[in-house]
Amino acid sequence: MSANIAELERRREAARLGGGQKRIDAQHSKGKLTARERLDVLLDAGSFEEIDMYVEHNCVDFGMDESHIPGDGVVTGSGTINGRLVYVFSQDFTVFGGSLSERHAQKICKVMDAAMKMGAPIIGLNDSGGARIQEGVASLGGYADVFQKNILASGVIPQLSLIMGPCAGGAVYSPAMTDFIFMVEDSSYMFVTGPEVVKTVTNEVVTQEELGGASTHTTKTSVADLACENDITALLQARDFIDFLPGSNRDEVPERPTSDPWDRLEDSLDTIIPASANQPYDMHEVIRKTVDEGDFFEVQPRHAANIICGFGRVEGRTVGIVANQPMVLAGVLDINSSKKAARFVRFCDAFGIPIITFVDVPGFLPGTDQEHNGIIKHGAKLLFAYGEATVPKITVITRKAYGGAYDVMASKHLRGDLNYAWPTAEIAVMGAKGAVEIIFRQDRDDPEKIAAKTKEYEDRFANPFVAASKGFIDEVIMPHSTRRRIALGLRKLRNKELENPWKKHDNIPL
Ligand code: HXC
Repeated sequence: MSANIAELERRREAARLGGGQKRIDAQHSKGKLTARERLDVLLDAGSFEEIDMYVEHNCVDFGMDESHIPGDGVVTGSGTINGRLVYVFSQDFTVFGGSLSERHAQKICKVMDAAMKMGAPIIGLNDSGGARIQEGVASLGGYADVFQKNILASGVIPQLSLIMGPCAGGAVYSPAMTDFIFMVEDSSYMFVTGPEVVKTVTNEVVTQEELGGASTHTTKTSVADLACENDITALLQARDFIDFLPGSNRDEVPERPTSDPWDRLEDSLDTIIPASANQPYDMHEVIRKTVDEGDFFEVQPRHAANIICGFGRVEGRTVGIVANQPMVLAGVLDINSSKKAARFVRFCDAFGIPIITFVDVPGFLPGTDQEHNGIIKHGAKLLFAYGEATVPKITVITRKAYGGAYDVMASKHLRGDLNYAWPTAEIAVMGAKGAVEIIFRQDRDDPEKIAAKTKEYEDRFANPFVAASKGFIDEVIMPHSTRRRIALGLRKLRNKELENPWKKHDNIPL
């Protein structure tokens, strides 16, 4: 008996050592944690239960039959984050560079299946040289098996990817199909083909960081949602983030105790809107003053910052927040902001997370750049996403709601449940100046008449009451009572029932 136990201990020890101390030291020297150290930070202390520790690859080519490392480059299992179940896989770069073999892929698929069955999020910690080169097509098949699981899991369980090292070739497509991607600055990158191939094919000289580092993907491409300073920050952020999400689309949003009174009044919001309509203010302030304890987890803060998307809580329950940001491009809707918010709205809808929308939008961004790059199709994404969403939708227009953007931003017409406006709201087809220049074009050389007509247009439309008189706005509310009204609204909407007509799936303009 004691010999068997000793054998188990020996095998466990061998598996835990992965690719050996030398490679662990190399990992540390790059400022990276090992696969198991990462899980220690991500999960509640002592909660990790590993499975498939003794799985080995089945490759016999290129001398691989001589080289077997238990676990085969990925640590898999389950654990808890603040007491809630999650499934995890963590690629071990010290074992064949974390490369993906057939067996490695099978291990990932197994935890994904378990996550689906149990209704718990799956978190992947990616650190891999891509397909296990010695295995050839077997590893490509393994990737495709993971891709297929990602696709079927989409909208059923939350999928979060942390990119904590190389992620190249087809390996990027599994994270790309997950819901959110966090990257570690300076030590992680994602690209379909690396700098060497780029140089050969296009003659461009580019570093890994420029091509696919955290900065590139969180500013330019929007492939990633968050850039984190180091492994520890990324893992701690992932813990905070998972706390907002339900385990699956079968679950209610999580609820946690809060000492923040539901009816807290915020007098400062009564004066946040500047005297001049062209002066910006920070919409983050409105958001922070609305959610519990000012706790707001923003996604993609560095991409298309003219729209803000993220999670907060009201009365301890998660809400998704979408808000135009007057501080950036006056909060205009353009291609990038439409795409960013559309994906976020669809995530919330898939997982039953109510959507709160704060509106201060001067319209869609004009110009050949936008038109030629397809603002029609991309703007339609956000319109479509809001219109198909059946979760509770509460909208607060703080200032401008002009033109098509008024319709798009969770308006009454797109089945907004509660549409509120502050007294400072201006709801019109366009700003007064532009409107008068078009309607009274014949008088454009008469500045006095133009000024008078502009004033008349402002008096008529630079307020929420025309829309309210038509029932498009349910109530004009005091800014200081925004949190209170939203909390009351969310209570009422908890048992909301609304279903879209049966269909195989829709055809959102991709
Ligand atoms: C097998 C691999 C490997 C791989 C790395 N290793 N990548 N083994 N298959 N894909 C091994 C190395 O041989 C080495 O083994 C160890 O991992 C560490 O690698 P190093 O090169 O020493 O590390 P580093 O200098 O940090 O460079 C990391 C790297 C580089 C940039 C990832 O290893 C690299 O370029 N690897 C190949 C990447 C690649 O082309 N992959 C295939 C992509 S195509 P030892 O024993 O020396 O420690 C693809 C198709 C998928 O993925 C398609 C799906 C649809």
